[in-house]
Amino acid sequence: MKTLHVPLGGRAYDIHIEAGALRRLPALTAAFLTAGEPVAVVSDETVWALYGQTVCEDLRDAGLAFEHILVPPGESSKCMAQLSRLWERFGNMGLGRAGTVVALGGGVVGDLAGFAAATWMRGVGLIQAPTTLLAQVDSAVGGKTAIDIDAGKNLVGAFHQPKSVIIDPRALATLPPREYATGMAEVVKYGAIASADLFARLETEELRENAATDTLRDIIYECCRIKRDVVAGDEFDTGRRMLLNFGHTFGHAIEAKYGYSRYNHGEGVAAGMRIAARIGETLGVTRPGTAQRLSRLLSRYGLDAREGTDGLLPLVRRDKKASGAGVKLALLKEIGAATVQHLSYTELEAALRTLKQVG
Ligand code: NAD
Ligand code: GLY
Repeated sequence: MKTLHVPLGGRAYDIHIEAGALRRLPALTAAFLTAGEPVAVVSDETVWALYGQTVCEDLRDAGLAFEHILVPPGESSKCMAQLSRLWERFGNMGLGRAGTVVALGGGVVGDLAGFAAATWMRGVGLIQAPTTLLAQVDSAVGGKTAIDIDAGKNLVGAFHQPKSVIIDPRALATLPPREYATGMAEVVKYGAIASADLFARLETEELRENAATDTLRDIIYECCRIKRDVVAGDEFDTGRRMLLNFGHTFGHAIEAKYGYSRYNHGEGVAAGMRIAARIGETLGVTRPGTAQRLSRLLSRYGLDAREGTDGLLPLVRRDKKASGAGVKLALLKEIGAATVQHLSYTELEAALRTLKQVG
């Protein structure tokens, strides 16, 4: 078992990472799940079909009163209708201030159930039990929760730190390859922004979903450690946490360009990281050759999405990190080191034009 402590004062918590950790969920969270207090387990239908029965058995054996609430798999469940369904179910099951919500699933379930927990009775306990690589290395850690509305993704949300995060790398064995690859985009991001060692390891080893669980555990640990360090210094995303956004500003714009139907999150981020690295080189912020090395690594993990820069600027202007004056962009200095720079829209437009000219 590897455990990481997230030091956030009264909101501090531990992240437990181990093969088989899901089976130990009641034991690992015993301090938060108390007999007699209702537990709402939120999951999606796909994850529940794979892991629901064992989770139910374990909670029952621990003497816990729980109900499960399922949503359809996919981004469309991160919506107002499902959120309000969760609230109604919480009400019907008598979930009070001492109750707990367990999010069992990928980032969609984590964000939706997390926001439901953040808003129910002004905030109840939340346990994150992420089952996708993306959720294990990113979305389950750090307390961002949200739903999507017509005006954009993740526009309605709250910071709500979990009481505990239970990560079972064995769950990745059932993940479809495309979903594994989307998580690898975030793993590559951590190497690119904060760890040249992790980046080099990804270049030399084949870190597939069927890799030894100890290997996966170590990689997940390293990613969570990097995210923990960043979040501990900037919980509310006003400064350094924006480094985690490397590739995301363009990634979100690319996802939006195709109405969220062509690329999933990680594929958009991969294409966005390619653009951000090249912009960094154009601006003289990023060491030359970095963009090529990053692109090669992304392709190694099946992340081949490449997008031109046409039409991106208006979409970037709608990003949450954008303001009237410009946008704060995470840029690489070199592999393993990053910085946040403010670019006016004129500067960004010029950089995008240069990229277009050099092809
Ligand atoms: P997801 O939750 O939709 O999961 C992807 C698919 O994999 C789903 O169909 C799901 O049913 C299936 N699945 C999940 N676990 C499985 C398993 N172990 N075996 C087989 N299938 C499994 O998508 P995701 O990529 O995990 O998360 C994407 C979401 O995360 C987006 O909404 C994004 O905005 C959000 N996100 C949030 C943060 C944050 O900090 N809160 C960070 C990054 C991304
Ligand atoms: N996924 C970026 C963050 O948590 O800040």
